[in-house]
Amino acid sequence: MPRRGALPVGTLLVLLQLAFVLSPLAGCLLDPCLEITPNTTFRCTGLNISGVPDGVPNTTQSLDLSFSNLKSLGSNYFASVPELQFLDLSRCHIHTIEDNSFVDLHRLSTLVLTANSLQHLGKAAFHGLTSLKKLVLVETNRTSLSELPIGHLHTLEELNLGHNSITSLRLPKYFTNMTSLRHLSFFSNKITSISRGDLDALREGNRLNLTLVLSLNSIKSIEPGAFAGIHLAELALRSALESSMMQTSLQGLAGLQVSRLIVGAFSDRGRQQDFEGGLLNGLCQVQMEEFVLICLRGFEDDTDTLFSCVGNVSTIRLVNLGLEEISQVPVGSKVKQLECKKCGFDDVPALKLSLFKELRVLRITKNRSLKNFEQKFEGLSNLEVIDLSENRLTFSRCCSPQFQNCPNLKHLNLSFNSYIRLTGDFINVENLLYLDLQHTTLFGPGSYPVFLSLQRLIYLDISHTKTKVESQCTFCGLNSLQVLKMAGNSFADNKLANNFKNLSHLHTLDISSCKLEHVDQSTFHALSELKELNISNNKLLTFDPGVYQPLQALRVLDFSRNQLIVLLDSARETLPDSLLLLDISQNLFDCSCVYLDFLEWVKEKQELLQNKELMLCHTPSYVANVSLPRFDLSSCHISAGKISSSVVVLLFVVVLLFLVYKYYFQLYYSVVLLSGCKHYAERGDTYDAFVIHSSKDQEWVTKELVEPLEGGRPPFHLCLYYRDFLPGVPIVTNIIQEGFLSSRNVIAVISADFLESKWCSFEFDIAQSWQLVEGKAGIIMIVLENVNKELLRQRLGLSRYLRRNTYLEWKNKEISKHIFWRQLTGVLLEGKNWNHEETKLM
Ligand SMILES: *[C@@H]1O[C@H](CO)[C@@H](O)[C@H](O)[C@H]1NC(C)=O
Ligand SMILES: *[C@@H]1O[C@H](CO)[C@@H](O)[C@H](O)[C@H]1NC(C)=O
Ligand SMILES: *[C@@H]1O[C@H](CO)[C@@H](O)[C@H](O)[C@H]1NC(C)=O
Ligand SMILES: *[C@@H]1O[C@H](CO)[C@@H](O)[C@H](O)[C@H]1NC(C)=O
Ligand SMILES: *[C@@H]1O[C@H](CO)[C@@H](O)[C@H](O)[C@H]1NC(C)=O
Ligand SMILES: *[C@@H]1O[C@H](CO)[C@@H](O)[C@H](O)[C@H]1NC(C)=O
Ligand SMILES: *[C@@H]1O[C@H](CO)[C@@H](O)[C@H](O)[C@H]1NC(C)=O
Ligand SMILES: *[C@@H]1O[C@H](CO)[C@@H](O)[C@H](O)[C@H]1NC(C)=O
Ligand SMILES: *[C@@H]1O[C@H](CO)[C@@H](O)[C@H](O)[C@H]1NC(C)=O
Ligand SMILES: *[C@@H]1O[C@H](CO)[C@@H](O)[C@H](O)[C@H]1NC(C)=O
Ligand SMILES: *[C@@H]1O[C@H](CO)[C@@H](O)[C@H](O)[C@H]1NC(C)=O
Ligand SMILES: *[C@@H]1O[C@H](CO)[C@@H](O)[C@H](O)[C@H]1NC(C)=O
Repeated sequence: MPRRGALPVGTLLVLLQLAFVLSPLAGCLLDPCLEITPNTTFRCTGLNISGVPDGVPNTTQSLDLSFSNLKSLGSNYFASVPELQFLDLSRCHIHTIEDNSFVDLHRLSTLVLTANSLQHLGKAAFHGLTSLKKLVLVETNRTSLSELPIGHLHTLEELNLGHNSITSLRLPKYFTNMTSLRHLSFFSNKITSISRGDLDALREGNRLNLTLVLSLNSIKSIEPGAFAGIHLAELALRSALESSMMQTSLQGLAGLQVSRLIVGAFSDRGRQQDFEGGLLNGLCQVQMEEFVLICLRGFEDDTDTLFSCVGNVSTIRLVNLGLEEISQVPVGSKVKQLECKKCGFDDVPALKLSLFKELRVLRITKNRSLKNFEQKFEGLSNLEVIDLSENRLTFSRCCSPQFQNCPNLKHLNLSFNSYIRLTGDFINVENLLYLDLQHTTLFGPGSYPVFLSLQRLIYLDISHTKTKVESQCTFCGLNSLQVLKMAGNSFADNKLANNFKNLSHLHTLDISSCKLEHVDQSTFHALSELKELNISNNKLLTFDPGVYQPLQALRVLDFSRNQLIVLLDSARETLPDSLLLLDISQNLFDCSCVYLDFLEWVKEKQELLQNKELMLCHTPSYVANVSLPRFDLSSCHISAGKISSSVVVLLFVVVLLFLVYKYYFQLYYSVVLLSGCKHYAERGDTYDAFVIHSSKDQEWVTKELVEPLEGGRPPFHLCLYYRDFLPGVPIVTNIIQEGFLSSRNVIAVISADFLESKWCSFEFDIAQSWQLVEGKAGIIMIVLENVNKELLRQRLGLSRYLRRNTYLEWKNKEISKHIFWRQLTGVLLEGKNWNHEETKLM
C-alpha cells in the first residue's frame, strides 16, 4: 500500500537540498563581483550590464570587466571609480567609445581594450587619461594609425597594436611628443612595405630606448634610408620579411643603430632560407650590439657569409637553426659572446670557434646530436665561460687537453651530458672557479683525487653523476671550495667518514639523496663556515649532537626525509643560534608522550621549522599521520594526571586494606548489622530486652536482673548471650540477630569491668549506632556501684541524655531497689506485645 505523505516529505527534502545548492549560486547572481583585494581590486567578468556594477566601491584601483557585454561606452562612464589605475575591458563587445568616456580616470595607468571591434572612436575618446602608460589595442579592427586619437597621451610608455589590419608604418607626427614611449608593437598586422619618412617621428628628439616589434607582417620591401639615423633598443623582425625578399629588405636597414636586432621566424613556422647570396649582407650597414638569428632553416651548408657582416657585433645568438658547421669566421672578429642553441653540430667546432679571438662567453647547448669533443680550443685568452650543457657529449681525458692556452677560463659547464672521464689533469684550466658536471655520468671522482689541482675552485656540482665516494681524498685539493653539490650519489658503506677534511671554506654542502646511513663523528670537523647543509632524503636514524656540533655557522639545515624518531634535547642544544631554517619534515617521528619536551619544542619553533605540514607522527599507530605542530599536547598532560590519580587510588586501597585488616571484626558486625537492617521489618519482637554485660557481672545479672524480671509479673523475656545464643552460629551474628534484632530494648549493665572491656564497649557502640539507624530500641543503662564517674561520662557520652534512653543507677539498698524496679519495668512495659498466655497470667 502506498504511504500517503511519503511523497510530499521526499519532495520537501529534495527542495530543501536544492535550496542549499542554489543559495550560493543565487549569491553569485546577486553579487557578481569578486573582491580580490579588499576595497581596491575587483573582478566582474562575463556580465550583461551597462555601466560599472554597483558593488564596485569608489576606492577601487584595479577593475577587470572583461568578457562583459558593454557594447558602447558613453561619456563619464567610469565616474564612479575615479581612483582606477588598471582597467581591463577585453572582449566586451564594445563597438563605440564616445568622447570623454574615460575623462574621470586621471590616475589610470593601464587600459586594456583587447578584442573589441571598435567601429566608432570619438576624437576625444581618450581624453582625461593624463597618467596613461600602457594602452593595449590588440585586435580592435584598426587599419591605420592616423585616425587613432591618442596624440595627446604624452605619458604613454607602451602601445600595443598587435593583431590589427594596419597596412602602413607611417607614424603620425604626434609620436614626436610621446617621448616616454618604450615599446611599440605592430605584431601580426598587414604592413607590406616601409618607406623613407615612415619613421621620421622617431628620428626627432633623443629617443634612445624604444623597442619596435614588426614580427608577423609581410614586408616585401624596406626602402633604403627608411631606418637611417634611427636609434632603437630592439627591433624584432621574426616572420616579418617575405623570404624571397629578405636579403634586399635587410639592406633597407642601413644606417640603423640598434642594441638588439632579432631576425628569423617562429619555431612553428621556421622558414627555409638560402645563405648562398649573402643573406645577411645588408647588416654590414647596421650598427648593433646583439644579433639574434632564430628559427631559420636551410643553413646546412654554405654558411660562409653567416658572420661576414656581424663579425664585429659583440653578442651573437644563433637559436634553433640546425646549423651543422661554422665555415667562415671573419678575421679580427670582435664577437665576445656567442651562443648556439639547438644547433646541429656533431662535434664541438672548437677549431673554428677559436678564430673568434675576442670570445669571452661561449655557449653551445641543447642539442642531443652533439656527442663528440675531439677538437681543441686554442689560444682564446679572453675566454671565461664555456657552457656545453644539455648535449650528449661523451669524451675522456677531461678537462685539460681540450683547452690549450685558455688561461682565463673560469666557468666550465658540462652538465646534462652523457659520459665524461676525468683524469685529474686540469693543468690548462687551473684557474677554474665554477665547474658544473651534474647529471653527466662521470668516471674518476670518488675513486681517486681528481680535483687536486683545482685549488681555486669555489663551486663544484657533481650531483647525480653516479659517483661513489670511496677514496678519503676525493675532495682533496679543493681548498677554496665554497659550494659542493653532490646529491644523488653514494658513499662507501653508505657512510660519511672523514670525506670533507680540508674544505674549511665550504658554505654550502648538498649531500641529499646519497643513501647515507651513518655519519662519523669527525665528518664535519673542518666545516666551521658551513652555512647550508642539505642532508635530506637519506636513511639516517639519528641526529648525533657530536657530529653536528662543529657547524656553528649554519643557517639552513635540511634533514627532511630521513628516519629520525625524535630530536633529543642534546641534539636541539647543538643547533646553532644562527640557524634560520630547519627542515625535519617527513621523518618517522615518535609522538609518544615520552618525548613531550620535543613535541613542545616543535610548537615553540614554528618560525624555524620548514614544511610543517609534512611533519607527521609515525608511531604510535593511534596517532599516525597526525601533524606534529598540531599535536594535542594536553592528551599527554591528562595521562600525567591519570598517573597521579591512580597513585592516589592505589594509596587509598592500601589504607583501606590495612583498615579492613585491623578492624575486620567491627566491619563484619556492621555488615551483618546492615543486612539485619533490611529484614528488621519482617521480624517479630521475641525479647523484651537484650542484655549487654561483662562476663564478670554474670552473677549479678542472673540474680538481680534475670530472676526478678523473668519470674515477675508480668514476665519479661530477656536475651542473654550465654543462654539464648544459637549454638554453631558465629557469635557476632548472634549478637546482632538474636540480640539486637530480636529485642525491643537493650539493657547495658555498666560496671567497672564493663567499662574496661573492649568487647562490651564495642557492643555498646553498636547498640548506639543501631539506635541511630533504626531509631527504635531504647538503651537502658544500669550503672552499678563502684564505677568511675569520669570514665562513665566519657563512655556514655550523649546517649545518657537522649530522651529514649533510660539511665538507672543500682544501689544495693531496699528503698533504692524498689525505685529501680519500678523504673525498669515501666520502661520495659512500653510497647510490649502481650501474648495470650501472659494476658491470662495477668
Ligand atoms: C574598505 O572600505 C570600508 C568602507 O569604506 C572600510 O570600512 C574598510 O575598513 C575598508 N577596508 C580596507 C581593508 O581598507
Ligand atoms: C542583455 O541584456 C539586454 C537588456 O539589458 C537583453 O536584451 C539581452 O537579451 C541580454 N543578453 C543576454 C545574453 O543575456
Ligand atoms: C566615495 O564614496 C563615499 C560614500 O560612499 C564618499 O563619502 C567619498 O567622498 C567618496 N570618495 C570619492 C573619492 O569620491
Ligand atoms: C572592421 O571595421 C570595418 C570598418 O572600418 C567594418 O566594415 C568591419 O565590419 C569591421 N570588422 C569587424 C570584425 O567588426
Ligand atoms: C606636441 O606637444 C606640443 C605641446 O604639448 C604641442 O604644441 C604640439 O602641437 C604637439 N605636436 C603634435 C604633433 O601633436
Ligand atoms: C631600456 O629599456 C629596458 C627595458 O625595456 C631597460 O632595461 C633599460 O635599462 C633601458 N635602457 C635605458 C638606457 O634606458
Ligand atoms: C670590424 O671592425 C674592424 C675594425 O674595427 C674593421 O676593419 C672590419 O671591417 C669590421 N668588420 C665588419 C664585418 O664590420
Ligand atoms: C640537433 O641537431 C640535429 C642535427 O641537425 C637536429 O636534427 C636536431 O633537431 C637537433 N636537436 C635539437 C633539440 O635541436
Ligand atoms: C649549467 O647549465 C645548466 C643547464 O643549462 C644550468 O642549469 C646550470 O645552472 C649551469 N651551471 C652553472 C654553474 O651556471
Ligand atoms: C689544506 O688547506 C690549506 C689551506 O687552506 C693548505 O695550505 C693545505 O695544504 C691543505 N691540505 C691538504 C692536505 O690539502
Ligand atoms: C635539499 O635537496 C632536495 C633534493 O635532493 C631538495 O628538494 C630540497 O629543496 C633541498 N633543500 C634545500 C633547503 O634547498
Ligand atoms: C598515513 O598516510 C599515508 C600516506 O598518505 C598512508 O599510506 C597511510 O596509510 C596513512 N596511515 C594511517 C594510519 O592513516
